[in-house]
Amino acid sequence: MEGVELGRELAAERKMVDQALRRLLQGEADVPARLKAAMRHSLLAGGKRLRPVLLLWTYDALQGIGRGTVAGRDSALVAACALESLHTYSLIHDDLPAMDDDDLRRGRPTCHVAFDEATAILAGDALQALAFQWLAQAGGTDCAALVGLVAAAVGPAGMVGGQQDDLDAEGILATTRHVSRIHRRKTAMLLAASLEAGALLAGAGTRQRQEIHRAGVDLGLAFQGADDLLDVTGDAAFLGKSPGKDAAQGKATWIRAEGLEKATIRTQRHGLAGMKHLAAVLPAGPAASRLLGLAGFMWRRDR
Ligand code: IPE
Ligand code: IPE
Ligand code: MG
Ligand code: MG
Ligand code: MG
Repeated sequence: MEGVELGRELAAERKMVDQALRRLLQGEADVPARLKAAMRHSLLAGGKRLRPVLLLWTYDALQGIGRGTVAGRDSALVAACALESLHTYSLIHDDLPAMDDDDLRRGRPTCHVAFDEATAILAGDALQALAFQWLAQAGGTDCAALVGLVAAAVGPAGMVGGQQDDLDAEGILATTRHVSRIHRRKTAMLLAASLEAGALLAGAGTRQRQEIHRAGVDLGLAFQGADDLLDVTGDAAFLGKSPGKDAAQGKATWIRAEGLEKATIRTQRHGLAGMKHLAAVLPAGPAASRLLGLAGFMWRRDR
């Protein structure tokens, strides 16, 4: 699925996710007003909602494929919101002056600019804890597996470790291999976990989940490759964040390591490999075609 049809389906699914996020946040009653406002500022700002939609569409495409328990779609939606909450926390912290020092995010002032640094740190902390609360709620009989796989993806050997690698590599001339390692941890592992969590909730077996994870890592590498390319070629109105930051901060990217042209080819190569692996696991049908369309969008970013 591509073009207008994919765009329409994506818009409808994003709306479902946004509504669920609002509902879940409203359920958090006893929260200090300033903290709640900061959490809402960042979480309800309307990003692409890629991770939750990946979870939901993988769930739809793989339902009943294995012998595991199939969770209800309502539970899958709560798990999807958890991933968006984790991702948003990572963005709030990524934008802090001590990290990438950005003032624009999702077309709005970043959390620490709109509030203050301490509140932004706490809003990130709060979104992380809430995410695990929601995962525990959504996981049912697969709760331990779900929490475990997501925690590994965002923990010290996953996203947080990757953010450390990213900071450590600032200003050095990293090799393409080194950059790939950074991208894998800081970005690809959470995206792969989004697909894998959808597969788990759909009842998929270990083998199928491993294949899905592998596809997710390639797609995640291509996604960060595209993010880095857009940092060079995109504009703030389209991106909702300030371009040109990576070169200014000496970030380790494939572009810095090997130039724009080769980095573009590398991004495409990972994107196509991810789609090929994904297509091999999915039973053919409209849900598979929709998920493959989204996989293509992850690195082509044409809307
Ligand atoms: C930005 O993620 C950070 C990266 C991992 C490159 P997204 O591009 O998914 O940001 P939103 O959620 O759409 O704002
Ligand atoms: C961020 O990568 C990855 C995260 C884990 C948040 P970037 O630093 O390139 O993301 P942007 O460009 O600020 O969105
Ligand atoms: Mg960063
Ligand atoms: Mg950044
Ligand atoms: Mg970037």
